[in-house]
Amino acid sequence: MLEQPAMKKLIPDLSGKTVLDIGCGYGNNCFDFVNSGAEKAVGIDLSEKMLALAKEKNNLPEITYIHMNMADIKNIGSRFDFVYSSLVFHYSEDFNKLADDIFSVMKKGGELLFSQEHPFVTASDNGYIYNEDGKAEAYSVSGYSESGKRTANWFVDGVEKYHRTFSDIINALCGAGFIIEHICEPTPSDDAVKIRPGLIKEFIKPTFLIIKAKKP
Ligand SMILES: C[S@@+](CC[C@H](N)C(=O)[O-])C[C@H]1O[C@@H](n2cnc3c(N)ncnc32)[C@H](O)[C@@H]1O
Repeated sequence: MLEQPAMKKLIPDLSGKTVLDIGCGYGNNCFDFVNSGAEKAVGIDLSEKMLALAKEKNNLPEITYIHMNMADIKNIGSRFDFVYSSLVFHYSEDFNKLADDIFSVMKKGGELLFSQEHPFVTASDNGYIYNEDGKAEAYSVSGYSESGKRTANWFVDGVEKYHRTFSDIINALCGAGFIIEHICEPTPSDDAVKIRPGLIKEFIKPTFLIIKAKKP
């Protein structure tokens, strides 16, 4: 209701294009890319369980799923017109290297579109601050300027992710040679808030950061 609608609006025309999905999960995006005209989609993921699901649920002749760490992406052996990644890059320890590696596996004129947890979220230990009526009125951020590993509890305890400042992220992309085309910190539509009223909290701070960039 928030990240996916915003991402979908920024996906370019994929007719005849080759696509790489970094952290493809169960392959739903690769499936959609091929159905939107992509000639070939490659999905990589660190989780063999996710890839097993992808091969079972979203299997098409034009899709190849590869068990690979995004840290090794420069060894993938192909070049792509479009690189996509949804909610994965906050698990990368070295975003400067990742940006350089992605740039190296893209064709000239290719585009990168990714989302990640917003730096306000990766820098928060305690999340929303609620008033006496139980209504969220603020959000707590701590150690924003200290980039590095953070541990969170999300479905399971001790999930490791990496906080980076907004400027770290932009500078890594520019340093790799990308031109930033669009930045989005999505807020919910009126309809989304009607269906899920808790989404009103998204106007206090963004949860996601979405960036579209081009290899010139
Ligand atoms: C929040 S899920 C998103 C999945 C998918 N992109 C989607 O939108 O449905 C994060 C995914 O990133 C994968 N992942 C985490 N660290 C990774 C790494 N270092 N290299 C490749 N994939 C990774 C996880 O296995 C998981 O499938």
